[in-house]
Amino acid sequence: MKRVFCDNFEKFLVDELGLKKNKYDEFLKEYRVTLGEKYSSANNFELKDNILRKIYRKLWEVMGIKKLARGAISVQPDVGIFLYIFTQLTKPKVVVETGTFAGYSAVHFSAAMKKNGFGKVITTDINPNAGWGIPKKLLNDNIEFHASQEPLSLLSTITPKNFDLFFHDSDHSYENVKNELKIVLPKIASKGILISHDSCRRTQSGPFKAFSELDDWHVFFIDSDNDQGTVLAVKDFDYLKKGILANN
Ligand SMILES: C[S@@+](CC[C@H](N)C(=O)[O-])C[C@H]1O[C@@H](n2cnc3c(N)ncnc32)[C@H](O)[C@@H]1O
Repeated sequence: MKRVFCDNFEKFLVDELGLKKNKYDEFLKEYRVTLGEKYSSANNFELKDNILRKIYRKLWEVMGIKKLARGAISVQPDVGIFLYIFTQLTKPKVVVETGTFAGYSAVHFSAAMKKNGFGKVITTDINPNAGWGIPKKLLNDNIEFHASQEPLSLLSTITPKNFDLFFHDSDHSYENVKNELKIVLPKIASKGILISHDSCRRTQSGPFKAFSELDDWHVFFIDSDNDQGTVLAVKDFDYLKKGILANN
């Protein structure tokens, strides 16, 4: 199956998916208005993240608590913008996310679903206090948050049959990504989409390796402003492309 490396999200959307450049620019413009004004708390993510990151780093240095240090960061702005645009293009009814943290990615799915007029995000974390950046009204509306110290059994329980999009952003070890995929693959819709953050090519990260092994999927490795990278897999790429072109 196809393996494609893209320099950035714009190249993926425009060159691979065929989204018109002017349509992409319109999405970007609209994004600034929607998330910049409506969800003003999204602006606080960065500040809170930076404070937390400093605390985690210190704990790591001083006490060697690596578990806490791992994953203490939201997706970068270019990833958030991509999730927002891609959710509007593909219109998922249900997104399942692992790794809520601040809720930055969840809010981007949620805001796009508001534009679509339907859809919900089911997001999970091992930390019961995760999701601090999610506006309260969204939690009762189109974001469902679950936490457990047994994250894989939680994922099995909360993942509905025939859901549309899986976003991995939790523990990026190869073993965990494989385990999560083992749970979600039998339940994802046949036209469903898998996405993972932190699919770093340089370090051959867990998501990079696990997604590379999805034999009968088309897999797109998309570079970010830093080298964390995002990976996206879909079984029926032509269907995805046709749907996007027909509606845009
Ligand atoms: C990279 S952060 C997620 C960032 C989030 N997507 C955002 O944009 O704000 C990773 C999160 O995964 C959580 N986590 C770590 N191991 C996990 C696991 N095995 N299952 C679920 N969540 C996990 C951490 O507590 C942390 O909040």
